[in-house]
Amino acid sequence: MIYLDNSATTLIKPKSVISAVHEAIINFSANPGRSGHNASIKCALKIEQARETLAKHFGLSLPQNVIFTANCTTALNMAIFGYLKKGDHVVTTENEHNSVLRPLEALKQEGIIDYSIAFQSSPLGIKLEDIRPLVKNNTTMIITNHISNVNGCKTDIKEIGKFCKQKGLLYLVDCAQSCGHEHISMEEDNINLLSFAGHKGFYAPLAIGGLLINTDKTAKPLLHGGTGTNSLELFQPSTLPERLESGTISSPLILGLDAGVKFVEEHFDEIRYKLDDLTTYLNFELNKLGFQVYTEPENANGVIAFNIEDYDSAEIATILNEKYGICVRGGYHCAPIKHKALGTIGQGAVRVSLSYFNTFTEVQKLILSLKNIKHKIFKIKN
Ligand code: ALA
Repeated sequence: MIYLDNSATTLIKPKSVISAVHEAIINFSANPGRSGHNASIKCALKIEQARETLAKHFGLSLPQNVIFTANCTTALNMAIFGYLKKGDHVVTTENEHNSVLRPLEALKQEGIIDYSIAFQSSPLGIKLEDIRPLVKNNTTMIITNHISNVNGCKTDIKEIGKFCKQKGLLYLVDCAQSCGHEHISMEEDNINLLSFAGHKGFYAPLAIGGLLINTDKTAKPLLHGGTGTNSLELFQPSTLPERLESGTISSPLILGLDAGVKFVEEHFDEIRYKLDDLTTYLNFELNKLGFQVYTEPENANGVIAFNIEDYDSAEIATILNEKYGICVRGGYHCAPIKHKALGTIGQGAVRVSLSYFNTFTEVQKLILSLKNIKHKIFKIKN
């Protein structure tokens, strides 16, 4: 099997991640922060170290403002429902995933907020000039992803971050597809809220993500419940992470994530070169085959989308899977406005997404398989 669906989740995990999960199940599985005994304290200390790893990685000075969640979707919902209030307006973009669009639409349907969608003036990605004209007097938040999960285009988060700081707007960045292979500093890039998925670019197990908070503003909790602190009170504590992190957290997943972040930091340059090389090569070959490629050669971020003439992308993905043992994603990628902007409503797009563990030979095999598929289609048509 050749696995090229790493934007959905990375399949091959570093040995250090597997060992960390294994060790956590054996040695760090008492409930952290709920009891005062040694086993619980030992686990809680490891969790706090993982918060420090994440905070340092994302240029955030307050480790307690790292909130662990089940996934990036939960983190985005936590930020959107936690910070938006009646009468607020949000500017977001054509590139967003349904994990941003659906919470915004839900709040809009309830009459609480309104939002505007910024479209790209450059094929490379969203720039500040796409956002700025949409900002109104009641705009309180800008939400952009960093890298599109559909075609890998990249947002200029630095310029948008500076603008948000000047205007006093909260800037929420969805780093689901960029974490692990992009330099991101919340302090330097003026990011107030950052969501990430652990199981993608950090090579952690499924179902671990987080929200990082770099603002003094207080969020309304998404979940209410036990935190192990202020236990006699009927309301959520005001301190982080407890305010937003109710319920037992998963030490095996968090410690796996911690190992994944450390793995990425150790191999950062190699990861970037690998993704850049493989994406650039694949893009060139797909263009040579005459396919419609939706990814600019400059967006060599490991995500590449294309179609073969007017063939259903889901059918192409099925052929790749069944005949060639190659896993890619076809159809729609939970980003409806992006598909509309790319003109892929009706057909979807074949998406190839790469990881550090993919090889040049695997990409060559994909290209050969696509050549065969093209040849067969050509024969059928003629
Ligand atoms: N959001 C993930 C993807 O793009 C699941 O496939």
